[in-house]
Amino acid sequence: MIPAGVDAPHCLVGQSPQIRKIRHLIDKFGRSATPVLLLGETGSGKEVVARAIHDAHPTGHFVPIDCGSLVGPLVESELFGHVKGAFTNAHENKRGLIELANGGTAFFDEIGDLPMEMQVKLLRVLQEREYRPVGSLSRHKVQIRVIAATHRDLPREIERGNFRQDLYYRLNVVTLRIPPLRERREDIPLLIDHFLDRLGARFVLTEEARRTMVNYEWPGNVRELWNCVQRMTAMAPGNVVQVADLPTGLQNHLNARHAGRVSMAAAMGGGGVPVSIPSNGARTPVFRLSEIERRTIIDALRHTRGDRTHAAQLLGIGRTTLYRKMKEYSIEQEHRMPLESQLG
Ligand SMILES: Nc1ncnc2c1ncn2[C@@H]1O[C@H](COP(=O)(O)OP(=O)(O)OP(=O)(O)O)[C@@H](O)[C@H]1O
Ligand SMILES: [Mg+2]
Repeated sequence: MIPAGVDAPHCLVGQSPQIRKIRHLIDKFGRSATPVLLLGETGSGKEVVARAIHDAHPTGHFVPIDCGSLVGPLVESELFGHVKGAFTNAHENKRGLIELANGGTAFFDEIGDLPMEMQVKLLRVLQEREYRPVGSLSRHKVQIRVIAATHRDLPREIERGNFRQDLYYRLNVVTLRIPPLRERREDIPLLIDHFLDRLGARFVLTEEARRTMVNYEWPGNVRELWNCVQRMTAMAPGNVVQVADLPTGLQNHLNARHAGRVSMAAAMGGGGVPVSIPSNGARTPVFRLSEIERRTIIDALRHTRGDRTHAAQLLGIGRTTLYRKMKEYSIEQEHRMPLESQLG
């Protein structure tokens, strides 16, 4: 069985029907050597699933191979290794990634980015189960489990002439689609708690902060959520995380969701900013986006005690942009204390 909630770096967290199904399939075919093709948007957890498949029957090593970086003259040697003297600077024998994965799992990440000439070579390894290191006369036997992942639509890449159909058939024996996070929102609270655990952080999220996170679209999927948890725990002044401690993208999202109701309130005579609108029976202040941005910048500067480079990093913007925005919002630079009063 794959553990559901145990904290491990590569643990597959989630109790949504989709994640349960993936876990069930991993249990079912994890022990066989069947090739698996993982499809999913960026940050959705393809590598986590690949590792879970390997861990279901952990023989040998799990070797991630970043296909997008397999370009240039040394690619072949990187994959297949070389023998001493094969080319200038080949001062000794070198083992390639395929050999490292022998007896274990080779994880071809972003297989859609594999250059055409390497696709032919990989196909040959899969068909013949042997390869030849660069400069060697002999062929080496190899037994690897192949897992490949991509965010691309491979059939379309085949039509466009960018991907070999024969390689696609070899890889596409079992296909798992990892759904984007927005299609399994019930996993979000579990993931938040998992990430807080991973950071060893004792933080409490206000109900509104949690709700905002659950309702957000997460275009960068679980990776974006992980970044968000790291950032908000760094930004929160105490150990309570409020909406104001969330990255601006999430706050804007919340604001946009409220916008319809705000304009109603304005039409009925509200108008001013901030305004109060009903939200689940509570009165929630809503601010202009610029006000939220100003507060976020002040929070970041306060958190970093005025270190603008660090603040820009936390905010995910460049230093120049931070300076420009500080000027735009008339945020003083010598602020350590005054920042409190600038928050109003
Ligand atoms: N179900 C999950 N449980 C726990 N952590 C997860 C889960 N899914 C993703 N993560 C975490 O989210 C981050 C992104 O996951 P991963 O690298 O597997 O995504 P990916 O689909 O391979 O992304 P990319 O397409 O950008 O390579 C990692 O830090 C990973 O640990
Ligand atoms: Mg990945």
